[in-house]
Amino acid sequence: MVNRGLFIVLEGLDRSGKSTQVSRLHDQLEQDGHKARIQKFPDRITAIGKMIDSYLRSEAELDDRAVHLLFSANRWECCQAIEQSLQDGVTVIADRYAFSGIAFSAAKGLPFDFCASPDIGLPLPDVTLYLTVSPAAAAKRAAYGTERYEQVDLQNRVREQFKLVADKVRTMHGPDRWVEVDAEGSIDQVWERIWSQVKAIESKKGEQIHRLWT
Ligand code: TMP
Ligand code: MG
Repeated sequence: MVNRGLFIVLEGLDRSGKSTQVSRLHDQLEQDGHKARIQKFPDRITAIGKMIDSYLRSEAELDDRAVHLLFSANRWECCQAIEQSLQDGVTVIADRYAFSGIAFSAAKGLPFDFCASPDIGLPLPDVTLYLTVSPAAAAKRAAYGTERYEQVDLQNRVREQFKLVADKVRTMHGPDRWVEVDAEGSIDQVWERIWSQVKAIESKKGEQIHRLWT
């Protein structure tokens, strides 16, 4: 029997360097002979993803709750493929997941428990690596694009909500499921921190996949 793949999530604010590190992790795993694939959330390719995409680019207006549920539905429509990959021994690296779902919607003012509930039962990541940058360091990075949530005051509220999300993960699923990674410094320095965390969870390949928030 092949070992299952690992389910690794990278989370963080916009400009935390997630996408750069996600592709580096993917390349390193493949170079080492592992099978791996990237799953970006939102997945803007699907029909639901296209609705989310036009909302984020301010081409469409949607009720806050409705768009929250679309983000969650976008995860559910990808969830069977994720589980299949894991069973096939493919490591799945997700660029954002349900944790962004809660943090961004709660930062907009929706009740935290409402935000968490539609994702109950999704596959639980083996680890979530949360990339942290100070507001000062974030401000020095490349300018925000033009998407809806790329504003400093909202991002500060998102950061506060991510702290509550971290508490919930640690309480419900154990402290090792949510790991903060200092994302300040060079790309290489951040990468070394990420890689050491990924090597530390190798043994999870023998464990069954758990369910989020259960
Ligand atoms: P991206 O910049 O990683 O493509 O993500 C697009 C935006 O969508 C980003 O500002 C975070 C936000 N988001 C949510 O509001 N809810 C979610 O469930 C996810 C996955 C992302
Ligand atoms: Mg973005």
